[in-house]
Amino acid sequence: MPQNINKIAVLTSGGDSPGMNAAIRSVVRSCAYMKLQCVAIYRGYQGMIDGDFKEMNARSVNNIINKGGTILKSARCLEFRTPEGRKKGFEQLKKHNVDALVVIGGNGSFAGALKLNEEFNFPVMGIPGTIDNDILGTSYTIGFDTAINTVVEVIDKIRDTASSHNRLFFIEVMGRDVGHIALNAGVGAGAEEILIPEQNLGLDRLLDSLKRSKKSGKSSSIVIVAEGDKTGKNVFELKEYVEEHLPIYDVRVSVLGHMQRGGNPTCFDRVLASRMGVRAVEAILEGKTNYMVGIRDSKLILTPISEAIKAHTEVDEELIRVSDIMTT
Ligand code: F6P
Repeated sequence: MPQNINKIAVLTSGGDSPGMNAAIRSVVRSCAYMKLQCVAIYRGYQGMIDGDFKEMNARSVNNIINKGGTILKSARCLEFRTPEGRKKGFEQLKKHNVDALVVIGGNGSFAGALKLNEEFNFPVMGIPGTIDNDILGTSYTIGFDTAINTVVEVIDKIRDTASSHNRLFFIEVMGRDVGHIALNAGVGAGAEEILIPEQNLGLDRLLDSLKRSKKSGKSSSIVIVAEGDKTGKNVFELKEYVEEHLPIYDVRVSVLGHMQRGGNPTCFDRVLASRMGVRAVEAILEGKTNYMVGIRDSKLILTPISEAIKAHTEVDEELIRVSDIMTT
């Protein structure tokens, strides 16, 4: 164990995701197991700047593995984007004798961690927590599996009412820049069309597909729209467009919103978070810094944060093909 690591801090930052608590628990318990001190920082980088720290022990994280959200709270902190803000944060870390930091969050949170390291040579380690599943260097981010299961459950319910009334529903799901939630939940729920930012198929194709759907005798149609979709129309505008061009359809809209971020994490997310937390602490003890823990082919891997934040992960082309075939 490198001499200089006695105390590790952990925080959650950016949009919360189900499974973050399991990751916090894992970091705290790994520290206890490895005889390290652990301190939690509340409210992400804002709490770091404000000195909102709390010593943790193995018992501080009892009964949280099953809970959604994050017990440490989260924030999108503008002040930490400035050198002055980061300096304040670093001073608080020093004041609390912290030797390394584990950041559970997404791209923006990792960019902040990287800056902290560059400016103060402070050891940082990332754990990917976001429902969007958009981070390079990992096949799964913590929270994605729970989110897609939540979305599928809700679409199943919407399907009941849609088919009772022979209706078409536009359902907007989260995914600011990527269509992973839309594509996976769309295939899982048997959506007739899936509109994602990575693939602008155009409105004509949408109308064609809906015409075909009606002709083939379908009693309901579900179109999943990722919030970052590039058709240039939001779900309400899409409803108007279709009503104007295909008046045979009775159209409704459902925006799922933040319910997608809540709820008890699935077993997959709990296990993933537990594994990643242990690896993050181990990697710090191996003297590593500026890495993100990820998973690929069921194996944990480390990717430099600088790589992880370079771009978003691409959607699975094979899944797009499957989706196309299934909507026949
Ligand atoms: O955390 C990712 C995410 O849920 C995106 O899918 C969504 O665009 C965004 O966060 C919403 O952020 P906020 O909760 O800050 O409005």
